Amino acid sequence: MKLPELKMGNLTAKFPIIQGGMGVGISLSNLASAVANEGGIGVISTVGICFKQPDAFSDFVESNNRALREEIRKAKALTKGLLGVNILGAMTNYDDIVKTSIEEGIDVIISGAGLPLSLPKFKIEMKSNVKLAPIASSGRSAAIICKSWDTKYNTAPDIVIVEGPKAGGHLGFSYEELQHMEDHNLEKLITDVIEAVKPYEAKYGRKIPVIAAGGIYTGTDIARIMELGASGVQMGTRFVATEECDASPIFKEAFLNCKEGDITLIKSPVGLPGRAIKNKFLELVEEGHKVPIKCPYHCLKTCKVEDSPYCIASALVAAAKGIMNNGFAFCGANAWRVTKIVTVKELMQELITEAELTFKGVALSPAV
Ligand SMILES: Cc1cc2nc3c(=O)[nH]c(=O)nc-3n(C[C@H](O)[C@H](O)[C@H](O)COP(=O)(O)O)c2cc1C
Repeated sequence: MKLPELKMGNLTAKFPIIQGGMGVGISLSNLASAVANEGGIGVISTVGICFKQPDAFSDFVESNNRALREEIRKAKALTKGLLGVNILGAMTNYDDIVKTSIEEGIDVIISGAGLPLSLPKFKIEMKSNVKLAPIASSGRSAAIICKSWDTKYNTAPDIVIVEGPKAGGHLGFSYEELQHMEDHNLEKLITDVIEAVKPYEAKYGRKIPVIAAGGIYTGTDIARIMELGASGVQMGTRFVATEECDASPIFKEAFLNCKEGDITLIKSPVGLPGRAIKNKFLELVEEGHKVPIKCPYHCLKTCKVEDSPYCIASALVAAAKGIMNNGFAFCGANAWRVTKIVTVKELMQELITEAELTFKGVALSPAV
């Protein structure tokens, strides 16, 4: 069996592989366009996207809008493929970023870290055909989003991304839940979310593809989760280890060098647990050290500056630039398996070939 296309209304990705949005500055136009050129969906992370703008500190909203416009335009100049943006629900400039993305003609908006209950409003008001993809971490959260969109906006998601507990970055699970990851495994979550969207597929007379994210590492993983009903996957960690990834080579080295025991859960100032690679910076924070914060803007609704041991935006910007003493790298639970940096083309071909062989019943190396 061939790896099927991913259809969302009038849009079709040749391969059902979405490159997850990775902030700050890890997935921008370079990575997103490379993935789109290979037939996947390339996603620009919008969080903290203003970090290269001269007025990032003096005009937070405008510098973010400008930086986002620039990245979308750069990506579009490099590809005719499908492009998305990832927008964190916790961002204080959420509305502006959604509107700018729509104005720039982005294909898909992916939104998590909080339930994106108001997202359809912008699509309706701006008479846009953008595809809306909420991120859910349980059947329950998918059901809440669908019910709210149905009641308030008479619509349903175009796709739903299910992010399991092995994902990188901020996680939609409590620390307690993350101690029992087997109770929230991706296979179960996918089945629950497929059930949750069914009434809305029936009501709106269209398929709502459910996409699996978090710990998908090989083409065999892709095939196995699709055999359970997922319409595709979203992957982050594998795309960090590519030449086209927008992060500094030093950030990518952290992935190459880390061992399984170096991957840890942190309490992020965002108010959610996050998964990251242990380093000196995180050790100092763990020991109770505080990095003085000067916060001229308030980028996250959930960040209490006075209680935060460090500024998460500054730490992630430093890491993206390779200044690891002042920050840290978010990563997925499988980051320790990364052994080399490849091109996006090589990675996509490897994943597609492995997935198709698995569909044919060829036994590849067992999942770790
Ligand atoms: C370095 C890094 C940064 C990330 N940043 C974001 C983000 O800003 N917003 C988001 O929704 N997800 C973020 N994620 C999650 C990815 O988009 C993706 O869903 C997840 O990593 C999938 O799991 P995997 O890494 O095991 O493939 C991030 C992941 C990584 C590794």
